Amino acid sequence: MERFGNKAMVLCLWVFLISLLLLLCNFDIISAEFPKLKHPIKGDGSLSFLVVGDWGRRGDFNQSEVAFQMGKIGEKLDIDFVVSTGDNFYDDGLKGEDDPNFLDSFSNIFTAKSLQKQWFSVLGNHDYRGDAVAQLSSSLRKIDSRWFCLRSFVVNAEIAELFFVDTTPFVNDYFTIPEHTYDWRGVTPIKSYTANALKDLESALKKSRAKWKIVVGHHAIRSIGHHGDTHELVQRLLPILQAYNVDLYMNGHDHCLERISDHKSPIQFLTSGAGSKAWRGDVKLTNDEGVKFFYDGQGFMSVQLNKNNLEIVFYDVFGRVLHRWAASKQLHSDM
Ligand SMILES: *[C@@H]1O[C@H](CO)[C@@H](O)[C@H](O)[C@H]1NC(C)=O
Repeated sequence: MERFGNKAMVLCLWVFLISLLLLLCNFDIISAEFPKLKHPIKGDGSLSFLVVGDWGRRGDFNQSEVAFQMGKIGEKLDIDFVVSTGDNFYDDGLKGEDDPNFLDSFSNIFTAKSLQKQWFSVLGNHDYRGDAVAQLSSSLRKIDSRWFCLRSFVVNAEIAELFFVDTTPFVNDYFTIPEHTYDWRGVTPIKSYTANALKDLESALKKSRAKWKIVVGHHAIRSIGHHGDTHELVQRLLPILQAYNVDLYMNGHDHCLERISDHKSPIQFLTSGAGSKAWRGDVKLTNDEGVKFFYDGQGFMSVQLNKNNLEIVFYDVFGRVLHRWAASKQLHSDM
């Protein structure tokens, strides 16, 4: 009789603990942090990846040509993964989890062997114009296991940590200019959503022990392309990146390739938004401070790094090198 009583008590305790856990999750007390993934580095302590943005056009507007060259460079650099800076599917994101555009613009285009790696993606404003939630669904991973897209998340690759931030809800114009409809499910109320995203980013950056800190978003902080600087991000996101020694901010949105140096910190603003249609000749020189490289055709970017050195390379649609930039950190520096 007594043994049965003990068992019942243990069971009750478990039920109580599980209920408590579910309750806490529900109130966002436990899940307030960005989801965190781990990615191993190579045996020699290095890491390499490609960065492409604004690409999903069923192969048109040079998307297939860019994809082909990504395959070649990807093989040469033995890449570990691919980063997508958003606007994954044009014109209006995916219609749902079974939209054939997923295969037509992703699986059947990036077919090279070297690109059969994990793709880490953020959502762009065009993705929000369709079923944004579908792109986050694990059912897409069942169709193509390379796909990984969340609103905001962290990839910890030992020597480097990548912080992916959902930037579309930060942009006021999408709410005030009713030109398109957006799928805001899961991000309202916007004010607290964006405030929490910044808070969570700050806490993840604070905890990071990685030598290289890289932040990825769809919208540019600084750009001289069609859209130009994103003032909301200059005001709200940039001070956090400057305060926590971020090395690189990578984005898409403007259909060009560019590198701009921050005047207040070592941050490099890198635009890789040229995965398909490019905006030739569309340049805004209202704020051209720190511009080191700008190209208005299609292409992509590679990142190679180890504990002490980092190299960025931009390529055009023929795989030709357009621009190179390298940085290093002292051997004995701790951060
Ligand atoms: C594709 O790229 C080539 C080379 O840069 C360019 O001449 C051509 O206009 C591009 N096509 C489109 C549709 O953008």
